Amino acid sequence: MSLADWTTTPRVEKILSSYPDKRSAVMPLLYLAMSEHGYLTDEAIREVAGLVGLTSVQVSAAATFYTMYKRQAVGKYLVSVCSSISCGLLGAKRVLAAIEDEAGVPAGETDPEGQVSVEHVECIGACGGAPAVQVNYELIEGVNPDQARSLVQWLRDASPPVVNGDEMQALFGGRRSFDWGPADSTGSVGPLPALEGLGSTGEGS
Ligand code: FES
Repeated sequence: MSLADWTTTPRVEKILSSYPDKRSAVMPLLYLAMSEHGYLTDEAIREVAGLVGLTSVQVSAAATFYTMYKRQAVGKYLVSVCSSISCGLLGAKRVLAAIEDEAGVPAGETDPEGQVSVEHVECIGACGGAPAVQVNYELIEGVNPDQARSLVQWLRDASPPVVNGDEMQALFGGRRSFDWGPADSTGSVGPLPALEGLGSTGEGS
């Protein structure tokens, strides 16, 4: 689908009509553009700016401030390692180093096969289960460096079409921040955050 097609889909109308001021739709539209193209191209930034009546510079400022917006293509699996205080105190640096070594790329890059992207991120809300890691935004807590290596090997070897936080927790995690929550059997099918409630993942198209 061309970008011109993307900007005229019912989903765009739905998102724009959800806000009294269309400028407020900039973030869900950026997510929608990212879901269409895999990442935010310069053209997508310009198109979103046109849709909401902002300049490309203003839209670009939002797109570069939030780390979940990607300006480059990412691999099939986005491995995010928390580097904030709780995780840092409990060994996140060593976990990240193990993941970088096993993936063969430093944080911020994707392996040549397009399978694994590595990044470090700020607190992902699992401080009680530090060090915390996410794969395609599915959470794994209490990860040590050996488990982190095994996780990357598993992603490469098994190449699961869906990654599920509970499954990865059982295989590669350690102590969790709590264990009384509902089981999550849905999982994630790709490296983009899911925003069904905003109609940005295919709903209503
Ligand atoms: S500091 Fe790592 S999840 Fe909060």
